[in-house]
Amino acid sequence: MTEIPFVHDFLQVLAILFVTSIGVAVIFIIVIYIIDRNQTVHAIRRNYPVIGRFRYWFEHLGTFFRQYFFTMDREELPFNRAERSWVYRAAKNISNTVAFGSTRDLKPAGTVIFVNCPFPTLGKDAVKPKPVTIGENCTQPYTTSSIFNISGMSFGALSKPAVISLSHGAKKAGAWMNTGEGGLSPYHLEGGADIVFQIGTAKYGVRDKEGNLSDEKLKEMAAIDQVKMFEIKLSQGAKPGKGGILPGDKVTAEIAAIRGIPEGEDSISPNRHTDINSNDDLLDMIYRIRNVTGKPVGFKVVIGAYGWIDELCKKIQERGLEYAPDFITVDSSTGGTGAAPMSLIDYVGLPIQESLPLVIDKLKAHGLRERTKVIASGKLITPAEVAWALCMGADFIVTARGFMFALGCIQALQCDKNACPTGITTHNIKLQRGLVYTQKSWRVTHYIKNIIHEVGVIGHSCGVKSPREFNRDHARIVQASGNSKSLSELYPGE
Ligand SMILES: Cc1cc2nc3c(=O)[nH]c(=O)nc-3n(C[C@H](O)[C@H](O)[C@H](O)COP(=O)(O)O)c2cc1C
Ligand code: SF4
Repeated sequence: MTEIPFVHDFLQVLAILFVTSIGVAVIFIIVIYIIDRNQTVHAIRRNYPVIGRFRYWFEHLGTFFRQYFFTMDREELPFNRAERSWVYRAAKNISNTVAFGSTRDLKPAGTVIFVNCPFPTLGKDAVKPKPVTIGENCTQPYTTSSIFNISGMSFGALSKPAVISLSHGAKKAGAWMNTGEGGLSPYHLEGGADIVFQIGTAKYGVRDKEGNLSDEKLKEMAAIDQVKMFEIKLSQGAKPGKGGILPGDKVTAEIAAIRGIPEGEDSISPNRHTDINSNDDLLDMIYRIRNVTGKPVGFKVVIGAYGWIDELCKKIQERGLEYAPDFITVDSSTGGTGAAPMSLIDYVGLPIQESLPLVIDKLKAHGLRERTKVIASGKLITPAEVAWALCMGADFIVTARGFMFALGCIQALQCDKNACPTGITTHNIKLQRGLVYTQKSWRVTHYIKNIIHEVGVIGHSCGVKSPREFNRDHARIVQASGNSKSLSELYPGE
């Protein structure tokens, strides 16, 4: 019987709370209404007080919901759901077969079709990719069998657990990992993978106090056995000709030590190497770094001006093979980054479909193809895209965003806001908690192994025993007429 007054009191409290919260909500809406009506910055809020605010919220949420509810499997950009799903499943090492038939439209111009042969390679006849040596003439050349590797992303753009996961994952798959322009962190080294040290325009990690390239620092880096090659970054696809500024509040003691810059001060990356003004300077720099380190040296570039690569090759012939780059990384204008102006991302540079054959054919025409290996990048994240690059003549393929998907990236496009929901591009410790390297490093490993496995599957269908046997006869490109032409017909240069 004593329970009834208690229930009565409880309901009364609930009722008071309910009425109070309604009252607070009404007052809140009135305040917002007055603010919106009287502010002069946003027309929508001034004309539609309170309700106009939902527009910004829906616009923000649209980025997340469109990909789940409204876009078709092949529609979304930069990567559609079909591509991402392939990577997610490969990384989880679960079946990647599909039912009923292709959802890919095979008619648009530019579509790649591989040519199967009547007598495919039997599983028992398939062979693993042969090792390739980069920088044969160096004191310490680099030999690797890994066709598919991790493209440059700095510690800073990526979180600590992301870098650690990539490092362990690459090691288990026998792949290399590029440091990106932010210098070499202990997290790159942690898993034991081979490292390509990237020298960005600010020379982070290998600079003296004035920001010049330091031979002492280069020697220190080269003395680390895991560091196998050095890559001079001339440009990257997403932002050719654009530098960057690392704000002082992001220059923590750790970042400052890794990059070789003062703690807490803004750090500027010039929009090109201030000491490389010409082809001669570039070749001098390659020669110098190779001499100091004894390891292979190349450069990364997004191709723009058509004639430049021709002039560079002529210059190498004039000056001698000892000046030739050991590799060129050809990045596509479609490349990604943490943050870049839309005008550069959308409009500047050649896509890899145009630049890769150009670079390979120019090297060949100048007798440099054996000497200088070619690494291709730019949305080459699924087996068909990798196989296309191999058919075209690339020696290696690297990807950045493919590995971000392997780590769990959901393409939320918040990389520059320190709010990455999957912990990959954020320094927020709470968000990083979701990224557990013991799990994610396996995803990296599986992704690499499954890519190579399925490139092999395409190869067997085309009658090749190993991915390195692909050539331009093995792929065709659909033309505007609707008929396809072989790569060897379209690009007879190689
Ligand atoms: C988060 C992020 C950081 C990157 N940082 C660098 C960098 O430090 N140096 C560089 O040369 N490229 C950088 N890139 C570009 C990639 O290395 C790569 O060239 C480009 O994204 C194309 O490859 P993808 O389409 O496979 O991602 C970055 C890309 C991303 C997504
Ligand atoms: S999930 Fe993270 S890494 Fe992926 S796009 Fe979004 S913010 Fe960038």
